Amino acid sequence: EALRPAPQPLRGLRALVTAGPTHEPIDPVRYIANRSSGRQGYAIADALARAGAEVTLVSGPTTLPPPAGIALRRVETAVQMLAACEAALPCDIAICTAAVADWRVAQAGTRKIKKTPGAPPPTLALVPNPDILAHLSRPGPLRPRLVIGFAAETDDVRDNATAKRQRKGCDWIIANDVRAETGIMGGDENEITLITATGSEHWPRMSKDAVAAGLVRRIAATFATTPD
Ligand code: CTP
Ligand code: CA
Repeated sequence: EALRPAPQPLRGLRALVTAGPTHEPIDPVRYIANRSSGRQGYAIADALARAGAEVTLVSGPTTLPPPAGIALRRVETAVQMLAACEAALPCDIAICTAAVADWRVAQAGTRKIKKTPGAPPPTLALVPNPDILAHLSRPGPLRPRLVIGFAAETDDVRDNATAKRQRKGCDWIIANDVRAETGIMGGDENEITLITATGSEHWPRMSKDAVAAGLVRRIAATFATTPD
């Protein structure tokens, strides 16, 4: 009996999850976006809530129904996503699954860009978006105790993700191989490598819900051994 896990191991903890793409406007009818269904992030938010955490899900545009029992903050752009994340602090756990557009159009028009016969196509001047994961990972009184990022890669997955963990300053990074032939982007399954400060472990291919459940188990174990 003593070995049976507590039903709500994350009770009393606050969690922040980013999910989905961001949409960066070009003009009122066009935008730049990354490919993202939001499924893995929504599954993680749901699993955290089931484990008793108080969850804020900051989501870019998706077609998914919001999980029960979470606070959903809908946003469009990276700048809005960062503001919504900052408003959700302080929290104990932050998990960034969002596919944030790396750049936005420097000056999005309020008027539709029209084609002019014979004229060359317009040139878009881009500026970098804020890095939300790096922002949340920065040391300081509001830094969540556990910050987890994702790294969607097509090449040298583990090496790229390991470097990304250090560059961002997050505690764990979850790498996945998103080459088109894996079917992971937009699919129901994921195959991940969990990279921490002490090493990496590869998980076999499983449903995104199972990845979320496994991750929540790992998080609960971490908080159980390092209270406060
Ligand atoms: N991320 C973020 N804000 C950004 C860019 C990325 O929060 N502006 C987060 C993602 O949610 C993910 C992690 O950072 O958890 C890695 O995103 P990724 O796009 O793989 O990393 P980048 O640093 O943008 O590098 P690149 O796209 O060049 O591989
Ligand atoms: Ca990126």
